[in-house]
Amino acid sequence: MNAHDSEKVIGTLIHEGYRQVDTVEDAHYVFYNTCSIRDKAEQKVFNRLQHFRRSDGAGRGKVFAVIGCVAQQEGEKIFERAPHVSLVAGSASYTRLPEMLVQLETGNKRVTGLSLDTDQAFDTPFTRRDNPHRAYITIIEGCDKSCAYCVVPFTRGPERSRTSASVMEEAKRLADSGYTEIQLLGQNVNSYRDPSCTGWDFATLLDRVGTVPGIRRVRFTTSHPRDFVKEIIDVIDSNPNLCNHVHLPVQSGSSRVLSGMQRLYTRDQYMERISWMKNARRPIAITSDIIVGFPGETEKDFEETLALLDEVQYDGLFSFKYSQRPNTAALQLSDHIPEEEKSRRLTVVQEKQRAIQIRQNANLVGTQEEVNVEGYHATLNLWAGRTSRNRTLNFTHAGSETPEELVGKYVQVRVTRGGPNSLAGESVN
Ligand code: 5AD
Ligand code: SF4
Repeated sequence: MNAHDSEKVIGTLIHEGYRQVDTVEDAHYVFYNTCSIRDKAEQKVFNRLQHFRRSDGAGRGKVFAVIGCVAQQEGEKIFERAPHVSLVAGSASYTRLPEMLVQLETGNKRVTGLSLDTDQAFDTPFTRRDNPHRAYITIIEGCDKSCAYCVVPFTRGPERSRTSASVMEEAKRLADSGYTEIQLLGQNVNSYRDPSCTGWDFATLLDRVGTVPGIRRVRFTTSHPRDFVKEIIDVIDSNPNLCNHVHLPVQSGSSRVLSGMQRLYTRDQYMERISWMKNARRPIAITSDIIVGFPGETEKDFEETLALLDEVQYDGLFSFKYSQRPNTAALQLSDHIPEEEKSRRLTVVQEKQRAIQIRQNANLVGTQEEVNVEGYHATLNLWAGRTSRNRTLNFTHAGSETPEELVGKYVQVRVTRGGPNSLAGESVN
């Protein structure tokens, strides 16, 4: 989401007449787009700002801006911690960025955009996309949930859905300019609701984007189990342009911990959604997020998470140690898990998941997959692509195409080997 925010900010500024440069040294304005989802990401921002300040006075004459979630969260405190910063703005204020730059140019020393009071999504036609074949489209911004550990509702504000007309128009425009893969984005795409009288829900929008001529793959992220309805699986089953991959973060396998996290579902309710996917006509890859060491997580709770991994057999997993975030409800909880114990649990989760992925990927040997080609590694003479189920597949290809010709195309590949994180194979056309 942050990467796509950068694409939108860059596009908006280019439209205003600014030019993007290759290095920080060449820039007059330096924008840091920041993430504060976990504490490490936040630390990095200040380290980088400090580093730049110190390095040989290279920051002299430049104007620094901090945008994104750390900007929203820390607000004007950033000016104290990093006095060379001139602009601080959260994502809900991005529509005002050109105007804020004008304020700087007309002599204002410090400009802020920190209001979360907006019912508008940052809907711009000027996005400057990094990838010529795969494109992100934001369908909903912000989040109305209040998971006890999560800073997002405080940094990205309340939910705002874009109109389905604007999303469809963007999808058609992308298809017309050669894009074949689209990823629909939102903190919780499942609670998408068209604000216009068309009134589409998420499943309808997903299906319609998957019928845009020229679009061959549609992905979406991220889903919240509470709002994840069976209709989403039904449209994936009936529309082959929708990728057969669902990222459905569970966070914990213990209903007790889920309740403490205010996730609004139990383990059984989550597993019901998993059974919809396991019973689908198309094989659907399922991935998830796990937090270990949430306050009060006992060894028994943790074992329930491990048992859930055994039961679901995820195709991929992102796992994190719980970290305290400003303003969140979990700050009030006692019974904090020591750092070493969090690290131990994280290692146990990651080792279990690695073994699951090795087995899953080994089972795919001998199958044929369609990959969207993403790159070529010249020294290894290997192509890399991604399957509809979102697995990386590295493959040999006998054809004489150049990377310019083959990247972005779809190739049939026979899987010959499976590793923990990727597959290897050979093209069959
Ligand atoms: N500590 C650890 N992990 C977190 N996540 C969100 N907030 C925290 C936190 N305070 C994880 C969740 C979420 C993913 C994007 O980041 O697993 O799904
Ligand atoms: Fe954070 Fe929960 Fe919203 Fe996801 S659904 S962004 S975890 S508050």
